[in-house]
Amino acid sequence: MESLLERIEAARRAIAATQSADVLEQQRVALLGKNGLLTAALKELGALPDEQRKQRGAQLNALKAGISTMLDERRGALERAATQGRLAREAVDISLPGRGAALGSLHPVVETMDRICAIFERMGYRREEGPEIEDDWHNFEALNFPPHHPARAMHDTFYFAGGELLRTHTSPVQIRAMQGRQPPLRIIAPGRVYRSDSDQTHSPMFHQVEGLMVAEGISFADLKGTLEAFVTAFFGRSFEMRFRPSYFPFTEPSAEVDIRWLDAAGTARWLEVLGCGMVHPAVLQNVGIDAERYTGFAFGLGVERFAMLRYGVDDLRAFFENDVRFLAQFG
Ligand code: PHE
Repeated sequence: MESLLERIEAARRAIAATQSADVLEQQRVALLGKNGLLTAALKELGALPDEQRKQRGAQLNALKAGISTMLDERRGALERAATQGRLAREAVDISLPGRGAALGSLHPVVETMDRICAIFERMGYRREEGPEIEDDWHNFEALNFPPHHPARAMHDTFYFAGGELLRTHTSPVQIRAMQGRQPPLRIIAPGRVYRSDSDQTHSPMFHQVEGLMVAEGISFADLKGTLEAFVTAFFGRSFEMRFRPSYFPFTEPSAEVDIRWLDAAGTARWLEVLGCGMVHPAVLQNVGIDAERYTGFAFGLGVERFAMLRYGVDDLRAFFENDVRFLAQFG
């Protein structure tokens, strides 16, 4: 008995120091398994006389219960330690600064185009679009540019081998909007246009917004009033404006509109902002509209020009370099 107690005491110390579940299991088998130390001792009870068996039986059962509890507790402690370790390894440090979710924003040219269209939509204009690859008829002929007409030279046109071209202005959308439709009509047509031209104020691709109104009794006064209302709404203040006689084959009379602009230094300058005029009767006839009964006006403006003025950008090419440091300022 003396040596059994000693061996059990040694086993208890070993269990208390055990660091792995596998070792713990081996210890359990060595003590309580089929051939374990305590199991064997219990088996030997049968050979003892009654009185001694009772006493020794109680003693061994108490030892067995104690060891059993100790093994359970040790297993529980090891499992808790393992869980703690895993939690610590997998922990997320919620105090770290975030990576930042940068929000994108509309390109200033798109934003300006939307702003222009929204102002006209509030005046009852409907937004229309046309193709960027056009044919000669829509881009020139129907707009009263006869073949070889010198005004064609005003546009440095990109041609495709098949005779199609990249539209040089949004005016062909006027033609498409009037074809197969009768007045009254009011349309606003934003989009890309192309001319073989590149410097500080010209890019081979740029954006225009075209406007067209056709109905009975439309006059140049309607055109002036509309454009004045637009410029005021766009910049949020009114400007002195001047309608300078000009020439476009598809309008008669034609004008270029200047606004009196104060630059940062306080110097006033006349700045050209758009082209316009009364729709030429020949254009109405080309799309089957009675030019005796209806009149109309049209205008076309450069979106980058308006964006440059509104945001104080002095090089048009900045809009197309896609430098995020530039673009992020418009968010
Ligand atoms: N299409 C002309 C241009 O690109 C502008 C314009 C549009 C002029 C409508 C008059 C009427 O220069």
